[in-house]
Amino acid sequence: MVTCKYVRIPVVLFLISVWSCQGPVKHYVSEKREVSTKAMVVSAHPLASAAGMEILRRGGNAIDAAIAVHFALAVVYPRAGNLGGGGFLIYRTAQGDKYALDFRETAPQKAHRNMYLDSAGNVIPGLSREGGLAVGVPGSVAGMYEAHKRFGKMKWSALLKPAYKLAKHGFAITPQEAERLNSYREDFIRFNGKDIPFVKDSAWKGGDILRQPQLAHTLKILMTKGPQPFYHGPIAEHIAQTVQRHGGIIEPTDLQHYRALWRQPIECVYRDSLRIISMPPPSSGGICLCQMLGMTEVTEFDPEDRQKILTIHFLIEVMRRSFADRARYLGDMDFVDVPIDKLLNKRYLVRKISDFDPRRATPSDSIQHGKFALPESFETTHFSIVDDDGNAVAVTTTLNSNYGSKVFVKAYGFFLNNEMDDFSAKPGVPNQFGLVGSEANSIQPGKRMLSSMTPTIVERNDSLFMVVGTPGGSTIITSVYQVILNTVDFRMPFDSAVWTGRFHHQWKPDIVMHEPHTFTPDQISSLQRLGHRFLERKYIGLVDAIIVLRNGTLIGVADIRGEDDAEGW
Ligand code: DON
Repeated sequence: MVTCKYVRIPVVLFLISVWSCQGPVKHYVSEKREVSTKAMVVSAHPLASAAGMEILRRGGNAIDAAIAVHFALAVVYPRAGNLGGGGFLIYRTAQGDKYALDFRETAPQKAHRNMYLDSAGNVIPGLSREGGLAVGVPGSVAGMYEAHKRFGKMKWSALLKPAYKLAKHGFAITPQEAERLNSYREDFIRFNGKDIPFVKDSAWKGGDILRQPQLAHTLKILMTKGPQPFYHGPIAEHIAQTVQRHGGIIEPTDLQHYRALWRQPIECVYRDSLRIISMPPPSSGGICLCQMLGMTEVTEFDPEDRQKILTIHFLIEVMRRSFADRARYLGDMDFVDVPIDKLLNKRYLVRKISDFDPRRATPSDSIQHGKFALPESFETTHFSIVDDDGNAVAVTTTLNSNYGSKVFVKAYGFFLNNEMDDFSAKPGVPNQFGLVGSEANSIQPGKRMLSSMTPTIVERNDSLFMVVGTPGGSTIITSVYQVILNTVDFRMPFDSAVWTGRFHHQWKPDIVMHEPHTFTPDQISSLQRLGHRFLERKYIGLVDAIIVLRNGTLIGVADIRGEDDAEGW
């Protein structure tokens, strides 16, 4: 796995910039921009990117690398990387075939629509966010195996080996990870006691070695036996027991019945030459992204329009309109009819934005405006990969909140998700991302909760152009939207397109969220005069993306907002 390699010029220097060759990995760097003519991996952690690159160098394809990155993230990025969560994968082969893999969690069979309500019909705070009842049936292990079975080239065990070694020998945690582990210490102890690898007597600091022997043991089991023990054997039993001990309702049969599913990707054309390939329900990502781009097409931009009040106002109104549809119509298509064709119909989208008023904000109907809770931070993770044949993979995977439900499966060394909070616990009552939903996203046994994750691949003139995605809950969709606009309409260099400030509107609450330096005070005042209200947030999104230039050169860009790292070959 992690081999010795040359020093590179680091943008963000973490410890010393050389690999250690044996024992715990102590030294590595985060590279924020990489250029390559061959292959690229961009992920949330340098060690995960290195794991993917190692697989590519050994002859693996993009799917092989994605599996290696996924399992490595489960070790080195435990806030979001996971065995106990789920996610989505978009794959475009070098020949232009497109696939979407859904390994989203499902509601357990004992789940029911009012499971988070008290006798008066009110949502019981916290129940869908922490502890056993918050846990959906995990899909990641099944998803990775499904991808491997259909498209993998290398042996399954070889793909898990980098993660296994990192878990067994340990690695030096980043200062950011140390900070997170310290700030979640009380939660970890409250749910799990002190005997988990993430709790120690003194505070964590950057450079401390984190070893995860139980997780190494689990990875070893998966390497030799595949996903069987996770869904039909001792690990499944243990997950169910742990969840039930924490008040939850997952049964071993829920794991037995879990399936990762291939779905038809959402596709739409933007400005004639671009084709967007993104995730269908149970994600809202593909539909909302295509809706936003479809509405955007009614106008043309010049690069200098980006900072104009009218442009910002217009983009906010576009976002608002799409999120209104999200709340009303979107849910798991295996349970509810999602009128995809109607939602993406060009005439519908033109009509939808036709009431745009350049002089004032359109107030979101405030009748269902609930109490808005800010997301904790970036608890999901996205990675983008292009291999040397030109196959491309975009994967977004999550535990939902940081370290998920905080419930840890001790004997096997991993956290369980709190994805049940992505359902609409009660129509009109916001979840942790302030998102409201309707019947379409109500809880039903076996149903998948609506997601915003938007792993996306973009073609230009039928060739691979961009691989992009991000964490950020509801802001995922608008972050991907802005990276595309920044690149295509505002013609920004790709690194700036990713790194520049972002903003977000999601219909309800009727508020524009923005990063500190996205707007000038004058811009905010002008937009306030149009009727917009603002809320500053430290970060929106952690975009990890790759662009392919016309000459075939790959530029990998890792977000400067996190520990994210691009590795080129
Ligand atoms: O699937 C979703 O939309 C959420 N569970 C994603 C969570 C997320 O991005 C957390 N990061 N802020």
